[in-house]
Amino acid sequence: MRVLLTGGNGQVGRELLAQTPTDITCVAPSSTELDITRMDQVRAWVKRVSPQLIINAAAYTAVDLAQSEPERAWAINHQGVVNLAAAAKEAGARLFQLSTDYVFDGNAKAAYVETAPCQPLNVYGASKLAGETALQTAMEHSLILRTSWVFSCHGNNFVKTMLRLGQQRSELGVVADQYGSPTSAADIATVLWQLASQPQAKGVFHYSGAPRCSWYQFATQIFSEAHTLGLLQRVPQLAPLTTAEYPTAASRPANSALDCSLLHQDFGITQPDWRHALRLVLAQLRAMPRH
Ligand SMILES: NC(=O)c1ccc[n+]([C@@H]2O[C@H](COP(=O)([O-])OP(=O)(O)OC[C@H]3O[C@@H](n4cnc5c(N)ncnc54)[C@H](OP(=O)(O)O)[C@@H]3O)[C@@H](O)[C@H]2O)c1
Repeated sequence: MRVLLTGGNGQVGRELLAQTPTDITCVAPSSTELDITRMDQVRAWVKRVSPQLIINAAAYTAVDLAQSEPERAWAINHQGVVNLAAAAKEAGARLFQLSTDYVFDGNAKAAYVETAPCQPLNVYGASKLAGETALQTAMEHSLILRTSWVFSCHGNNFVKTMLRLGQQRSELGVVADQYGSPTSAADIATVLWQLASQPQAKGVFHYSGAPRCSWYQFATQIFSEAHTLGLLQRVPQLAPLTTAEYPTAASRPANSALDCSLLHQDFGITQPDWRHALRLVLAQLRAMPRH
C-alpha cells in the first residue's frame, strides 16, 4: 500500500514513520514541500505518490496562540482538510484525519462518546471541528480519530514542559480541575497502522490513554517517574491550582475524557495505560543527548 503522510515531522507523524509496516510505502514530504493550505501542492503530491491512503497528521496545534491568529489555525485545520479531502476523492484514496477532545465543551460528567454534541470552547477546537465536518461532507469513506493530551519525546508537549520546569524550579503550580486522558503518540501511530490495514474502517472514533486524570495528577506521575529514572535530581513541590488561578488565552474543557469503547467494539483495540507509555517516553528522553 502507498500512503501519503502529512505532518511527518510532528509528534504523531514521527511515530507513524518509525512504525511503518514493511508492506507499506509511506511518503512524508515536509511542510515546506507540501503545505496543506496550498491546493496546488496537495494535488501535485497526490498525483506523484498516487496513494491508496492519505494520513493527515499535520495541524495547527498551538492552542493558546490560535486565539490571536485564528486565520492561520483555520487555514491549516479547516482549509487544509478541505484540500486533502478533495484531492483524496479525485484520486480514490481513503483519508485518515486526526482530531481532538477539544471539540467538546467539557461540561459532561462522563467520558464523551463519538456522537456527543460538539461545542468547542476555543479557536483550535472550532477549527478542528470544522475540519471534521468538511471531511465528512466531502467524503463518505473517511476516518476521523479523536485523541487527547498527546505526548512523545519529540516536539512540544506537557511531559517535556514539566521536565523543563522541574529542572528549573523547586515549586510549581499545576491545574487540578481539568480532567482528560494523556495519550502517547506512539500508541496513536500503532492504532492508525492497525486501522490502515482494515479496508472497511470509516467513521469517527475516540482513542486515548487510560485512566482519566487531571493535569496535576499527570504532572505528579511525570515527576515521580522522571526522578526514579534519574532525569530529575529532586521532585519539585507541586501545588494544585484551579483554572481561575491559571488563566490562559484559550479556555479549556473541564472534562475531556473520551469514551473509547466503539474502537474496542469494532476493532478490538483497547485503551493503553498512559503511565506505561510515559515510562517509555521518559526512558527515550534520558537516552537523548538533550531533552
Ligand atoms: N498535541 C496534542 O496534545 C493533541 C491533542 C489532541 C489531538 N491532536 C491532534 O493530533 C494530530 C497530531 O498532533 P501532533 O501533536 O503530532 O502535532 P505537532 O507535533 O504539532 O505536529 C504538527 C505537524 O503539522 C505540520 N504542519 C503545520 N502546518 C502545516 C501545513 N500548513 N502544511 C503541512 N504541514 C503542516 C508541522 O510541520 P513542521 O514540523 O514543519 O512545523 C508538524 O509536523 C493533530 O491533528 C492534532 O490536532 C493533538
